Amino acid sequence: MKISMAYEARISEILAEMTLEEKIAQMQQVSPESFRPEVFENFRKLGGGSFLHVLGKDADAVRADAENTRMKIPPIFGIDAIHGHSLLNGAVIYPSQLAMACSWNPSLIKKMGKATAEEVNADGLDWVFSPVLCIGRDTRWGRVDETFGEDPYLVGTLAAAITEGYEEDGLVAACLKHYIGYGEETGARDAYDTEISMRKIREVFLPPFRRAVEAGASTVMTAYGSISGVPMTAHRQLLREVLKDELGFDGFVVTDWYNVGSLRTKQKAVESFADGVRVTVESGNDMSMNSYQFYEHAIRLVKEGKLSMELIDEAVRRILRVKFSLGLFDENKKRMPKECIGSKEHIEINHALTCESLVLLENNGVLPLKETPKKIAVVGPNADDIRAQYGDWTFFSHPNRAPEDTMPKGDYYTVLRGLKTVFADSEVAYAKGCDVMGYSADTMMNEAIALAEDADVVIAVIGDILAQNGEGKDRAVLELSGRQGELIRKLKATGKPVITVLVNGKPLCLGDVIENSDALIETFNGGDLGGLCAAEMIAGKFNPSGKLPISFPRASGQVPCYYNQYAGWHATKYMDVDEGSRYDFGYGLSYTNYEYKNLAISADTAKAGDVLTVSVDITNTGDMDGAEIVEMYYNDLYSSVLTPTRQLCGFTKVFVGAGETVHVELPLAVNDLSLVNANCETVLEPGDFEIMVGGSLATLQTVALKITE
Ligand code: NOJ
Repeated sequence: MKISMAYEARISEILAEMTLEEKIAQMQQVSPESFRPEVFENFRKLGGGSFLHVLGKDADAVRADAENTRMKIPPIFGIDAIHGHSLLNGAVIYPSQLAMACSWNPSLIKKMGKATAEEVNADGLDWVFSPVLCIGRDTRWGRVDETFGEDPYLVGTLAAAITEGYEEDGLVAACLKHYIGYGEETGARDAYDTEISMRKIREVFLPPFRRAVEAGASTVMTAYGSISGVPMTAHRQLLREVLKDELGFDGFVVTDWYNVGSLRTKQKAVESFADGVRVTVESGNDMSMNSYQFYEHAIRLVKEGKLSMELIDEAVRRILRVKFSLGLFDENKKRMPKECIGSKEHIEINHALTCESLVLLENNGVLPLKETPKKIAVVGPNADDIRAQYGDWTFFSHPNRAPEDTMPKGDYYTVLRGLKTVFADSEVAYAKGCDVMGYSADTMMNEAIALAEDADVVIAVIGDILAQNGEGKDRAVLELSGRQGELIRKLKATGKPVITVLVNGKPLCLGDVIENSDALIETFNGGDLGGLCAAEMIAGKFNPSGKLPISFPRASGQVPCYYNQYAGWHATKYMDVDEGSRYDFGYGLSYTNYEYKNLAISADTAKAGDVLTVSVDITNTGDMDGAEIVEMYYNDLYSSVLTPTRQLCGFTKVFVGAGETVHVELPLAVNDLSLVNANCETVLEPGDFEIMVGGSLATLQTVALKITE
């Protein structure tokens, strides 16, 4: 949905009719779970502008209340639909953002966004708090699972795609979050201060927001934290000057949860709640999430002449603009039929996306399994734990944890169930072996080893659990927890082939699990079908094509180890850990091999504004059809400021039949080779560049390009 300016005259009329109280109520968002019930009830009656975490019939009831207010302005209902409409039990749960980013498939992610919009809309809601545009570079951070990974270009491309999917049909509004720099906090301590410069913001963190704003995003959420000591909620420059003026963002900005109150209680940036309200609005936030005292303070501040009515009008105009664009004022607002929730069509999209989201990290030839095994030993704490497989942001985790005995209503497959389904003719037995955290009893371990000894193949499923991911769950230690490493070691000692499947929220330091596994599959948080698709991949029902959107550290102390670091001095070296990440950004194996030949560029000299074509021939030299992700990077050899030695600037995914050769062309917009100079200006510096293409960072081929004035 492009926010429509066609309603400006109508909005002016409405604004002229509204009282101060009615305007401020539009700027208030409340949730039923965060404070005294009467507060929620009060805002229902007085016409609160927005409600969050209210589902289905409850939303209908709140909407009906708005009908009885004087202005009858419809509320906008927001929901954390983070990987599908995942707080609703019964909706399709897709892989986490990090998992789906492994597909490097914007068009499939767009379809997923569209399918999610349909389910959210059918449930009576209007607004998804997605996508997350944070950059997952410090993997200790508890919310890395919510990101599209570590690279601004990939994050921006996938964020634009999912935003289009959400918004294209006008079913829901997207919300770009968290603006900005969240995830890069010092020490990866959630929502703490981020020490990044304006230059760095423009180089790394802003580009994805720019892409998603251009894709038509209607709303943006202000991050919890601060940048070099300035709270984001109070960051007038980044909110007003950069987001609204420079990027031309016409929608509205909502704060994150209790940001207004936190200005005083946590960040100590203001002395009173009222001052927090003033700073919040003046800095460019249009709606306050859940600091419900915002309402009374804002009214008083305007009455006392301490907060300008013009700013209030501007905020309300932005909110109404989105409400009109969504058709919320229409009597027959478009609602999808409820049957689309968890529908077959959406499950099919989920299946395709999940298959493409799996990454084959290691394979000594054991996969795909050549024969159907008689006995499969399934071992490991995450083999049959759907909560671990879903990861964060489902009805299991939010808004209030579902009771212990809750079961998903959708058709979900853990790895155990997936294997039982796919290998229906095999004997599939399970022993947990150990827990993910803590010291598990030897008896548990011994039972698993005995099962392995008696099997033809062992499939071990390890990783992390919900308790190790999410808000405020940052990890100082990324090495595998509990006795999981020991379990894999002991399984290897049985002499049976060991296929290890990782079910985890973020890259972990895998240690000797790598050499003790005959094959290693990364699923991250695979949603409903993670276990089914892993089993299908093991059976060779499809050829894996996923590649990592994030680097894997060798040791916790090596973090951050993102690929696009600068050159210079001792760079990424430590004396006690091998250099470089354990698995690179862009890495992933398949059941076939691809050979890259004839790399060429349409011109070897270019200037600003030119668009070149980079081409390469790719041959599938194996005997299985496959899809290959083709990656393109650039290196600005000498520049006035340090630049990454490899920076992604294009990619595509091509199908290559066994034995076939495909000619691939990638557009290269020369302006994309710009840098942010010491004055924070984005400029293209003339000089020598390298353009690199390949299937992974380790196999890149290079052509030269000269940029002239
Ligand atoms: C907390 C989170 O930081 C944000 O991502 C989420 O959308 C809101 N609050 C609403 O739950």
